[in-house]
Amino acid sequence: LTADVLICGAGPAGLVLGNMLRADGIRCLIVERQSRAHVEQRARAGFLAENSVRILTENGLAEGLHANGKRHDTCAFRGDHGEFELKYSELGRGEVHTVYPQQDLVRDLIAQFIDRGGEIRFDTTVVKVDPHDAVLVLDDGTTLSGRFVAGCDGQHGVSRQAVPAKVLQRDHGVTWLALLAEAPPSMAAVTYAIHPNGFAGHMARTQKITRYYLQVPQGTDATTWSDEKVWAELHTRLRAHQYGSLKTGMIIERRVVDMTSHVLEPIQHGCVFLAGDSASLISPSAAKGANLALMAAEVLAKALARQINSGDSQRLTHYSAAVLPRIWRAQEFSHWMINLLHSPAGDDGHALFMRSLQRARLESLRDNRAHQDYFAENYIGI
Ligand code: APR
Repeated sequence: LTADVLICGAGPAGLVLGNMLRADGIRCLIVERQSRAHVEQRARAGFLAENSVRILTENGLAEGLHANGKRHDTCAFRGDHGEFELKYSELGRGEVHTVYPQQDLVRDLIAQFIDRGGEIRFDTTVVKVDPHDAVLVLDDGTTLSGRFVAGCDGQHGVSRQAVPAKVLQRDHGVTWLALLAEAPPSMAAVTYAIHPNGFAGHMARTQKITRYYLQVPQGTDATTWSDEKVWAELHTRLRAHQYGSLKTGMIIERRVVDMTSHVLEPIQHGCVFLAGDSASLISPSAAKGANLALMAAEVLAKALARQINSGDSQRLTHYSAAVLPRIWRAQEFSHWMINLLHSPAGDDGHALFMRSLQRARLESLRDNRAHQDYFAENYIGI
């Protein structure tokens, strides 16, 4: 036996799981397709919910986060109705986000895992998972065997193929151009702009890097969006003439993201347990992907520790049933948010109807405290 738990993937899910298992003295091995340098530099998400900060803090994984993370507590909506802000630290449960770039978190988690005596094999791809014997087949033809396999290898991983699950899915019919700009944030708040040309979003990341989103037609080639075109369209949709110019800079990442979501049911089979993007993919509209990954990793770590250290299988048997309702709450809110931020283009009756609904929903969110509390609880809650 190579280890008790074989973990596929060194993303947030696999690394938090591995760290928690090591703290309980469990032998585990992480297998990661990419190099260490690659995963430590891969810019992805950055908004951590309070539940994620709690998990990281309770497990001794939050030193970097507490030193360098930035508290974020306000979002703003801009449109032809004007602009309004929601300070969610004063709404709902009063929770806030901590902004900490995911690659920094991944770097911290890898260092901690190795410190705790964990082993990671980088540049190693899992090509097949056997759900009955907990065996991983690697790209060089060798195998690893364990007692359990944690499938934390993301949406394109192989471990999900070992789980005969139903895939419940939706294509939201919306596409975003996800941009990283080498520019300081232009506003203090996360800003969602609703414009006849389509949605635009602004999210501060660090003092030097800002994330922007532009809704684009499905099938758009990202390379057709020059830096000039990106900034011109961001200025238009974020209504710079009214609210002030954006701080521009080089666009260092431009990626087309189709808003699709899917959930596997169940997310366990035999010795295999899925966590993170391998179990469910959520549209980025409410920044929940990494937070869901951490939520599942915590539940799975506790269930595996209980099984391995005390022989109590109760939690592990019910892992899928415990995690899926929380995934669905997040999916429901993310779907609600997509409808808040997008409406069909054109002047036909259907498009006009949907735009009027969108406007009514925004007005309600602007004016109604109960609606604002609902928003805040779900926006940050997991
Ligand atoms: N063998 C080994 N490793 C693999 C394989 C494979 N066959 N396939 C994928 N991987 C690795 C990837 O290289 C990646 O490092 O699995 C890891 C999965 O990590 P993430 O995609 O980050 O997934 P997860 O940990 O579930 O976190 C999900 O974090 O990255 C964000 O946007 C993502 O918000 C989402 C959340």
